[in-house]
Amino acid sequence: MKKDLIFLGIETSCDETAAAVIKKTKSGKVKILSNIVSSQEKIHKKFGGVVPELAARTHAEKINHIIKRAISKSKCSFEQLDGIATTAGPGLLVCLMIGMTAGKTIANFYNKPFYGINHLEGHALTMGLIKPIKFPYLLLLISGGHSQFLSVNGIGKYKRLGTTIDDALGEAFDKTAKILGIKFPGGPMIEVYAKKGDPQAYNLPKPILNRSGCNLSFAGLKTAVLNCSKKIKTKKDKYNLASSFQNTINEILKVKCQKAFEMFLKDQKNLKDLNFIVSGGVASNQSIRKNLKKISLETKFNINFPPVGLCTDNAAMIALAGILNYQAGKKSNIDISSQPRWPLDEKAPFMKGAGLIL
Ligand code: KG4
Ligand code: ZN
Repeated sequence: MKKDLIFLGIETSCDETAAAVIKKTKSGKVKILSNIVSSQEKIHKKFGGVVPELAARTHAEKINHIIKRAISKSKCSFEQLDGIATTAGPGLLVCLMIGMTAGKTIANFYNKPFYGINHLEGHALTMGLIKPIKFPYLLLLISGGHSQFLSVNGIGKYKRLGTTIDDALGEAFDKTAKILGIKFPGGPMIEVYAKKGDPQAYNLPKPILNRSGCNLSFAGLKTAVLNCSKKIKTKKDKYNLASSFQNTINEILKVKCQKAFEMFLKDQKNLKDLNFIVSGGVASNQSIRKNLKKISLETKFNINFPPVGLCTDNAAMIALAGILNYQAGKKSNIDISSQPRWPLDEKAPFMKGAGLIL
């Protein structure tokens, strides 16, 4: 018998301590009852990046309070929950363990099903918080730790079509920001700088643009930004370099998306609806959104982005992934341990380093 489902989600894989309560009604409507995110941005700023030990300590200090706030805001009790979903990986081991311990304790105490969720699956399914998702769809996941094209064929059915062979796109944004003297995490500020600059001012490289399918590479671009930055004299030069960097990313994504569309269509014959979802922190970037919308329109793909606030790390996406796993008949997996490395497509080959590209 169908019934409303309410799940608590917990997320501590990196530098956001987050908890959320999500309800999926028996008619299929998804409601975000609460979504609490506590960012550690200020703590890590002075170090220029996330310090794992410090992040874990902060998660440990905050987690109880954040979960309590999420429960209280949702106006549900722990007893009313139908399950607990917690990010089990990938991420920083010491950070994952804090959320996992909290989630498993609640699940054990209240005797509820527990789901250890792949963080990337959370990003992959985020759009479901806004409207029902139809499988299959092409996913571009662009975050601080990952950049991948995936064919999403159902819950637990992910086929990686392409990935970065070095830096993730968010990492490239953050490193470019650091080079320009913007404090961590500078990705969002690059977008602000880019608006004030000339996108054609610098001619930057587009690594592996016309080879290796829809695999991506950003390390060479970052080195080029570093070299150009040495000749920078004015604030305007900084804006120009940020703008040229973002423009180069857009040009790379244009070519790689077209390649990914081809690969997706080759796999999926006779599809009526061509759906393309873009998620992860970098999907908040308005210039990238505009560029990808244009490419999709030209190729008849319906593109969707989660709202900006749900692109970056949150626990609402983890709770939803828990509900969808539960509904797909996946078993509660309370014995799962934290997994720092956990590819979404377990069959896809490891792809780090230029030597691995075709
Ligand atoms: O998904 P997310 O919150 O965390 C990971 O799972 O990695 O993504 C964070 C990344 C950071 O690298 C951040 O700089 C980048 O997303 N980001 C942006 C923007 N907003 C966040 N990059 C470019 N433009 C933005 N507006
Ligand atoms: Zn993430």
